[in-house]
Amino acid sequence: MEQFDVIIIGAGAAGLFCAAQAGLRGRRVLLLDNGKKPGRKILMSGGGRCNFTNLYTEAAAYLSHNPHFCKSALARYTQWDFIDLVNKHGIAWHEKTLGQLFCDDSAQQIVELLVKECEKAEVTLRLRSEVLSVSRDESGYTLQLNGDTVRAKKLVIASGGLSMPGLGATPFGYKIAEQFGLSVFPTRAALVPFTLHKPLLDQLQTLSGVAIDSTIEAQDGTLFKEAMLFTHRGLSGPAVLQISSYWQPGEFVTINLSPANDLDAFINVQREAHPNLSVKNSLAKLLPKRLVEILQEMKVVPDASLKQLNSKQQAELVQTLHQWRVQPNGTEGYRTAEVTLGGVDTTQLSSKTMEARDVPGLFFIGEVVDVTGWLGGYNFQWAWSSAWACAQAL
Ligand code: FDA
Repeated sequence: MEQFDVIIIGAGAAGLFCAAQAGLRGRRVLLLDNGKKPGRKILMSGGGRCNFTNLYTEAAAYLSHNPHFCKSALARYTQWDFIDLVNKHGIAWHEKTLGQLFCDDSAQQIVELLVKECEKAEVTLRLRSEVLSVSRDESGYTLQLNGDTVRAKKLVIASGGLSMPGLGATPFGYKIAEQFGLSVFPTRAALVPFTLHKPLLDQLQTLSGVAIDSTIEAQDGTLFKEAMLFTHRGLSGPAVLQISSYWQPGEFVTINLSPANDLDAFINVQREAHPNLSVKNSLAKLLPKRLVEILQEMKVVPDASLKQLNSKQQAELVQTLHQWRVQPNGTEGYRTAEVTLGGVDTTQLSSKTMEARDVPGLFFIGEVVDVTGWLGGYNFQWAWSSAWACAQAL
């Protein structure tokens, strides 16, 4: 039976970084993963360029039943620390928008960075490893693997959430938490596109691929101002992914289809200048033509000229375009979600070390924990910060 100081389950963002940090601190680390290669989600991330952190990382960008929990780790290993590491590896990056940092070339570079750090730290990486059972006695943890038994004083669960089962996601971490008496908040898909009910879906489907600037507000008042994309299933784009984390089934979202403009004032000015212009053609100066055509088919935009538009019609039109209330049918679910909301209850973990308060030697890091970031590099930063905080205690 092989003995290690630390066994880490999950060679994703959090597990790889934690393994390297613990190894560099002189620990003998075994890093296990069920997949063929490490960091599979990293490779897919940021459209293949990995949005590896956000310049504006702060606790307010995270959802959790315990909103203060993430503060300590985020303050001790910051976005600037990870940027330093990226620079040290000579990886070129750029800010795309809203503080979001992406590799210039490829997400593969971030995986290579993590693997190199693990090699430097002499981490033992075992891929295609299924953990069949985990048991604990006073001297540590024993893991039955497919064909092997391994032991360590400390066990770190970095097996991630449930999004994208095709990339190896499993409920393993939640099951281990429950096995050792920790509670787990119900999980749901987040940063995920909305699906729409018929007949709205049928009406909007031909807009698939059309993007507009928007603001989207959830019923709790949370609001994001980013792009929105019509898809053949419903609505997507950054604004929709963001608000999906704040949306509950059955609720409405309120969409401003033209947030940069005062449409009432715009129509008044247009009417003065071009009274015979159709409402449709005047709105097409601000919104994609196809969208305005569909809105006319839906009777949102009256089939009239500007001079024929009466004040009641104008008020209704402006209200709908600035405050379009949509009730999503649901979301696309874990199949396309970027993250999982909910997870291991943080009140049972130390915010300094990520160790379970009542189970010495058992740690939870990354997405398996009930800490979920906004879109924009926040989730990777949580992976790095929680992994680093944990590694200091290994
Ligand atoms: P992660 O999921 O990375 O790793 C968990 C590992 O555990 C996996 O390798 C898995 O195979 C392994 N595992 C699971 N069960 C196991 C078991 N039973 N036995 C052994 N191993 C097991 N975030 C961001 O900040 N910027 C971005 O650009 C993106 N982009 C993005 C795109 C896409 C398509 C997705 C799906 C997600 C993102 N994200 C993102 C979110 C980000 O990928 C996510 O938050 C982190 O990968 C979480 O890191 P973890 O290490 O916690 O889990």
